[in-house]
Amino acid sequence: MGRAGAIISAMGLSSVRSVVRFGRLETDPVRRRLARAASVADLRLIAKRRLPGGCFDYIDGGAEDERTLAANARAFADLQFRPRVLRGLGSVDISTDILGRQATMPLVLAPTGFTRIADPQGELAVARAAARAGVPYTLSTLATRSIEEVRSVSDGRLWFQVYAWRDRALVAEMVQRAADCAYEALVLTVDTAVFGRRERDVRRGFSLPPTIGAGTIIDGLRHPTWTLAFLRNEPIRFANVLGRSVGDGSSPVNLSDYINSQFDPALAWSDVEWLRSIWNGPIIVKGIQCVDDAVIAADLGVDAIVLSNHGGRQLDGSPATLGLVAPVADAVGGRTQIICDGGVRRGSDIVKAVAAGADSVMAGRAYLYALGAAGELGVDTLLGWWREDMRRTMSLIGAGSIAELDRSFLDL
Ligand code: GLV
Repeated sequence: MGRAGAIISAMGLSSVRSVVRFGRLETDPVRRRLARAASVADLRLIAKRRLPGGCFDYIDGGAEDERTLAANARAFADLQFRPRVLRGLGSVDISTDILGRQATMPLVLAPTGFTRIADPQGELAVARAAARAGVPYTLSTLATRSIEEVRSVSDGRLWFQVYAWRDRALVAEMVQRAADCAYEALVLTVDTAVFGRRERDVRRGFSLPPTIGAGTIIDGLRHPTWTLAFLRNEPIRFANVLGRSVGDGSSPVNLSDYINSQFDPALAWSDVEWLRSIWNGPIIVKGIQCVDDAVIAADLGVDAIVLSNHGGRQLDGSPATLGLVAPVADAVGGRTQIICDGGVRRGSDIVKAVAAGADSVMAGRAYLYALGAAGELGVDTLLGWWREDMRRTMSLIGAGSIAELDRSFLDL
């Protein structure tokens, strides 16, 4: 008798039946992967296994020594709650107002360039998941699905992120296309006067769209699922500028050369006024990194600011954004909405940022890990986790609604 047989005979068949439960064997590989994940850190590791090194590092990495990248996440880790108990809460309501409209939670999905390197559906998958979750999705200028394609799959809230191309006529045309497709708001990114030095990309000689060539063939063979999908699907292109002289990715580019040659380093506050002259809806300025600039933006009457260091991808040495929330809220809270971006990995991080004074948060990398790990279902899963995280965290600190969250719940 083998060991299993010995155990069964010692226990008796009926007592074995009472303790053994065979769950349904999950045959779908995506669901199987997700069943083993419980956190963004898990999704990151799965994405790391599945994506070619160059693509993973482009998503995962930051500028130079990645100090700001690490500081963003560390700021959340280092900030503790001051929980209150016995408050008779019962249920918790995490819905809130973002730009004057109801959202299911204080979250906006951030613009991320080249999303199709994580999954062939790319921005379409993320926009659909955001709409299902009831939160706005921001499409990047440097998206790999166009303004129109994304609108065609989502009737949810869409924002459009604007980079200042030297060719302002091109910007104006994209803004018009966003208006024609009922995008709700423009998000002007202001932290990219020049491109940050992402040393992981430098070391790998990473180009966009990614190429399968002599240097990358081994990497491609080690990630066959990604490589097959990459070869089978339509080519990755910079979908908003297809066929334009600025280059649409038909020939791979070094992103740093591309951005430094195409984007205008002389972008100024007057360009915010210019944007207002060509766009009727809300304007959001993304990339504010100090109180003084938050005040200028509020004085200009922008609808929201995003406290952001571009996820640590631009200026290494920029402060962690969570630390800016309270001083900026003291200076401009109530005059413009404050969105905190950078380092959000859990629903409890969202609660911390809002308690510190943010109206909502933006997150990009976390959903790219989810997308790289398990496609659209991965993003759905992540957003579901964050919803539950927020409810659980607010129950545990004794806050019944977003309006109740304030600094008294933080050890600031
Ligand atoms: C693009 O916006 C990037 O951060 O790589």
